[in-house]
Amino acid sequence: MTSYAIEVKNLRKEFEIKKRNGFFKRNKKKEVFIAVDDISFQVKKGEIFGFLGPNGAGKTTTIKMISTLLRPTSGTAIINGINCVERPMEVLKILGTVLTGERSIYWKLTGRENLEYFAAMNGITGRKAQVKIDYLLTRFNLDKRADETVEKYSTGMKQRVALAKALIADPEILILDEPTSGLDPQSTLNLRELILEIKEEGRTILLTTHYMEEADQLSDRIAIIDHGKIIAMDTPCNLKKGLNKTNIIVLELKDWNSSTEERIKGIPMVENITSRFDDIAQRWEVKIHMVNGNDSINDLITNIISTNNKIINFRVEEPTLEDVFISLTGKSLRE
Ligand SMILES: Nc1ncnc2c1ncn2[C@@H]1O[C@H](COP(=O)(O)OP(=O)(O)OP(=O)(O)O)[C@@H](O)[C@H]1O
Ligand SMILES: [Mg+2]
Repeated sequence: MTSYAIEVKNLRKEFEIKKRNGFFKRNKKKEVFIAVDDISFQVKKGEIFGFLGPNGAGKTTTIKMISTLLRPTSGTAIINGINCVERPMEVLKILGTVLTGERSIYWKLTGRENLEYFAAMNGITGRKAQVKIDYLLTRFNLDKRADETVEKYSTGMKQRVALAKALIADPEILILDEPTSGLDPQSTLNLRELILEIKEEGRTILLTTHYMEEADQLSDRIAIIDHGKIIAMDTPCNLKKGLNKTNIIVLELKDWNSSTEERIKGIPMVENITSRFDDIAQRWEVKIHMVNGNDSINDLITNIISTNNKIINFRVEEPTLEDVFISLTGKSLRE
């Protein structure tokens, strides 16, 4: 018996690029876009494995292949020892999946009817189904409005129905695509708590997110993915430890422009710079990664002051997963 819940080996997905106006010429080699580029990873039984990456990194495409919804171009995904492409029906019995953006639940049915429907689809009927449905409705705080149609629910409630639906057949492995995307802060916290509780029941969870705090808070291990490739994989703690020789300095500045950025980049020890304009505070927030060095901070401040720039605030931060991403790619997760 394998100790891995999910084993992915050299998984690849190419999408054919369709020309809008052109017609296909025979024998012409087709152009493809590589959405997932030969990735390999293993998820141990009982762990939460986070897939962290920016928009378009290939997260959803990967989990669609694992969930048997997309056929890989090459490579394999094995769930509890069962090959996704060869035995999809068996794999589906082990997986509960919640995808984003797709209407995986019926909005014209009530929360309860949705669960009844999906219970029946999984062969769970009668008293057993009722007990399970009542349990899930109560547990996910849906019981008071269980008999209203889903279209009247908030986004957080809809997401909880989708999660309840994914758990109806008691799957060993849960796959969640951006589970808290679009939720308000309170619903986000509630859902993260629920995800941790579901792990405590002994289930394995693979989740995707582009929120670094979410990946950090929930995951036992993380794969950071960018442009279809896994660029780092470890525990959140170890990933951040890799930056312990780097000072992360955040400056709040009145002005920032490309020529200042070029000057700062020229200072020895400066590794990466990201900047964003804070609309509310009306100031620039510039994050600078510097390798520990004697005069590096002095040089930095002297350089900024020499441009007549006003330093509104200065702080040194502990590394986050966002900093891990910046140090690997030179760009911010949000870009
Ligand atoms: N059916 C498709 N045909 C062509 N290209 C596709 C298709 N599905 C996805 N892609 C492309 O593959 C890349 C990866 O998409 P994917 O949805 O996996 O990213 P993601 O990491 O889930 O991003 P997000 O954070 O925005 O959800 C994107 O560039 C996307 O445009
Ligand atoms: Mg996605």
